Amino acid sequence: MSTSGIVYRPRRLRATPRVRRLVAEHRLHAADLVLPLFVKEGITEPVPISSMPGQVQHTEDTLRDAVAAAARAGLGGVMLFGIPAVRDARGTQAEAPDGILQRGLRIAREGVAAVEQDGRPGPVVMADTCLDEFTDHGHCGVLTDGPDGTAVVDNDATLERYATMAVAQAKAGADVVSPSGMMDGQVAVIRDALDDAGFEHVAILAYSAKYASPFYGPFREAVDSALQGDRRTYQMDAANAREGLREADLDLAEGADVVMVKPAGSYLDVLRGVADRSDVPVAAYQVSGEYAMIEAAAANGWIDRRASVLESVLGIKRAGADIILTYWALEIAEWIK
Ligand code: PBG
Repeated sequence: MSTSGIVYRPRRLRATPRVRRLVAEHRLHAADLVLPLFVKEGITEPVPISSMPGQVQHTEDTLRDAVAAAARAGLGGVMLFGIPAVRDARGTQAEAPDGILQRGLRIAREGVAAVEQDGRPGPVVMADTCLDEFTDHGHCGVLTDGPDGTAVVDNDATLERYATMAVAQAKAGADVVSPSGMMDGQVAVIRDALDDAGFEHVAILAYSAKYASPFYGPFREAVDSALQGDRRTYQMDAANAREGLREADLDLAEGADVVMVKPAGSYLDVLRGVADRSDVPVAAYQVSGEYAMIEAAAANGWIDRRASVLESVLGIKRAGADIILTYWALEIAEWIK
């Protein structure tokens, strides 16, 4: 033993940038990152989203540019959300062949095909498969009278709508459909519908453990949401971790190709639990409010923006995410390249 009496000195592996780089257990890679994008019908200029500084509602033209930028940056995927000009109680535009989300998907596929001509893979094109952007009441499904007379989302009637919507998205060129409405049985019904329509090759990324969260607040502005009230009869209660694992198990049993936890930052325990039991890739969604918090604190000079962004995303990776949806995907890809 040395005269100091200290045997173990972990600081040795922290002493220089080069040794720190060598021993890093986790690294971010552009191909792990998915950029969520919003495309809005009937606008001629992109509309900034005030609660998500740096993010916009895209026109079809600027969506094309954004997908091209994602491709150049080597991102793993893009996740598309559509904002229709007209809404109704059933969310009819969600399945219209020429609905805004389907148009966006076709544009994204063209963008991907263009980069793939150069022989390298472009981003995977994903679609949010949910009705809330398309209904005039803002809920994720169709409504019926609940036990106490108030309107609730009708699970099984909504499943039929998701099946039709998923097939419309597949026809428009989605590589991946992403049911995010937390209806029971949604993965199985969508899998059946896709297979029946000849889309066995289209994958399902299931929003499996999706919690009712105030951190979706800025997203509501991003999609001009009409929602009154909340989603607590279908999205999960923040108090429940075990239930999140059960939701992931059910989606795995129904045939999900990827399971996701959302939000990410306040559910890292659930993410770790899902990662430990899943034999398919695990995704996490760093949501709009997580983005807004860091942007706001950084804009005030209270935290270092870049370091905070990188730490927040690395924490999600460390907790077990193979795939991370984040509004900073493009910027992070620039920083780490
Ligand atoms: C549902 C959906 C939502 C988000 C992604 N898909 C909103 C909700 O469930 O209320 C939120 C994403 C975010 O906040 O960044 N279409």
